[in-house]
Amino acid sequence: MEVLGIDIGGSGIKGAPVDVASGQLTQERLRIPTPQPARPEPVAEVVAEIVKHFSWSGPVGVTFPGVVMDGVVRTAPNLDQAWVGVDAGKLFDGARVLNDADAAGIAEVTFGQGRGKRGTVLMLTFGTGIGSALFVDGTLVPNTEFGHLELRGKEAEHRASDRVREERNLNWDKWAERVEEYLRHVDMLLSPSLIIIGGGVSKKADKFLPHIKVDTRVVPAALQNEAGIIGAALVAA
Ligand code: BGC
Repeated sequence: MEVLGIDIGGSGIKGAPVDVASGQLTQERLRIPTPQPARPEPVAEVVAEIVKHFSWSGPVGVTFPGVVMDGVVRTAPNLDQAWVGVDAGKLFDGARVLNDADAAGIAEVTFGQGRGKRGTVLMLTFGTGIGSALFVDGTLVPNTEFGHLELRGKEAEHRASDRVREERNLNWDKWAERVEEYLRHVDMLLSPSLIIIGGGVSKKADKFLPHIKVDTRVVPAALQNEAGIIGAALVAA
């Protein structure tokens, strides 16, 4: 069975059909820059354009970078505030909508680094913000928002996201120090048995992971940037 997965990010909206049995993309993915400002209507137009591009009439799963409950957006810290309260499921023509990090985590525990892992597994995505997905014996605790934990009087994602690394021109060592401090904090709070690092930086894990010392095993995501698309498709299947 194939499902169209669409991943809404702060800079790009990406979609591709996914074979949900294998987790493989069955066609080349399409990426369209996120409209600025990223208000609901223009974003919905891009989602519709992706559906049209693939001539899709089957199920669609969409990720959103904020808290989503029963299709309704509750928070959108890195998108336009007009999203708060919007029924995204309705706006996207009946698509299944979920948090972006939750989607990436679902893909990783199904096909990637978290596959078959018991106990507490934590996926953290580093991008514009920091997203989190918490699993206990493979079951997701949805909408955890550990990117907003406070570190040194600031939200963690305002200190240690990949956006902060780029904006502050931090070298990998300096950024790794911030990520390490953050990981130690979440590790202390949750005692996971595995931490998976996702988001765009997961492909450059060799640049920063060797600098990070945490008691828990920390690994880069296996599905890297496609995890959101795949997870969205899995949930909508
Ligand atoms: C949002 C999360 C989201 C993360 C990554 C955070 O600012 O609160 O819901 O998963 O960014 O996009």
